[in-house]
Amino acid sequence: AVTDLYQYEGFWCPLARLEGTLRAQKHFKPQPNQVILSSFPKSGTTWLKALIFAIMTQSHVSEPTNPLLTRLSHECVPFIEFDFRSSSPKLNLDVPLVATHISYTSLPKSIINSGCKIVYLCRDPKDVLVSTWHFIRKVLVNEEFSAVRDIPLEDAFEFFCQGLSFCGPYWDHLLGYWRASSESPERILFLKYEDLKNETGYWVKKIAQFIGYPFSLEEEDKGVVQKIIDLCSFENMSSLEVSKNGMIWLEKNGVNTMEIKNNTFFRKGKVGDWKNHLTHEMAMQLDQILEQKLSGSGLTFNVPL
Ligand code: PPS
Repeated sequence: AVTDLYQYEGFWCPLARLEGTLRAQKHFKPQPNQVILSSFPKSGTTWLKALIFAIMTQSHVSEPTNPLLTRLSHECVPFIEFDFRSSSPKLNLDVPLVATHISYTSLPKSIINSGCKIVYLCRDPKDVLVSTWHFIRKVLVNEEFSAVRDIPLEDAFEFFCQGLSFCGPYWDHLLGYWRASSESPERILFLKYEDLKNETGYWVKKIAQFIGYPFSLEEEDKGVVQKIIDLCSFENMSSLEVSKNGMIWLEKNGVNTMEIKNNTFFRKGKVGDWKNHLTHEMAMQLDQILEQKLSGSGLTFNVPL
């Protein structure tokens, strides 16, 4: 199963994503003031894409033509490395917000040198693992995941603990962005899914300020923050027609190679669902590995067992 993953600059990824990363390293040029949303897969990317998109288009939040009502956030906010999967990329990346799962080490140098703002999102690895495991089992026709689709959770856990997962090692992904954000806090905002869940309003305002789209007092008076939170809530997003019945096709060199049902991006949207899947021992083991890997960095996860 693991033979489907390739290690590049210290991180594991499927071949198509690696090809996309290499092309992006060579050819991607960020727009001035473009915002880059980076995340470890299954950390809440679908949600944060919607939140930032809504922040950037805040005055249209209540309009019936709001794209977030009829399009999945992944359609509104492209992944850089997916766009570059094709040798002839569609180059739909000249939009104000783009996303990536690429590690900080492997980010195109054009991004690092641009001074563009980066918002990074991560999540308790126990929930990441469980979310990933469910996701790959649900994905229908997908060359990238075919070999690992039926992997038992216990095996996925062992691989994850060895650092072997999409975009893993998990801790190295986090540490790359954490260190860069500690060095340049004005350039990289480091977020956790759990914090975003607990204090969504606080973080929506913080993100808006950080990316240069602060809310005016007038907009705040009109309740725009709450409207954004409601629009992007798990309950609202997952119940939209496009999320229930839509589908994403990813094209590679003119051929559709990957199909993902939009509803696979919405499962529970909760903090701590790992408790329904991992044993106490597994949780302890992963927590200990994480504590050891993050020790001395100043980064911690205070999620109670
Ligand atoms: S991906 O494939 O990397 O883009 O997946 P990603 O979106 O990062 O992670 C999917 C998990 O995020 C949950 N989700 C949400 N949580 C809160 N609010 C909203 N709106 C939302 N949308 C998706 C989704 O349910 C996955 O988590 P789990 O734990 O599997 O439910």
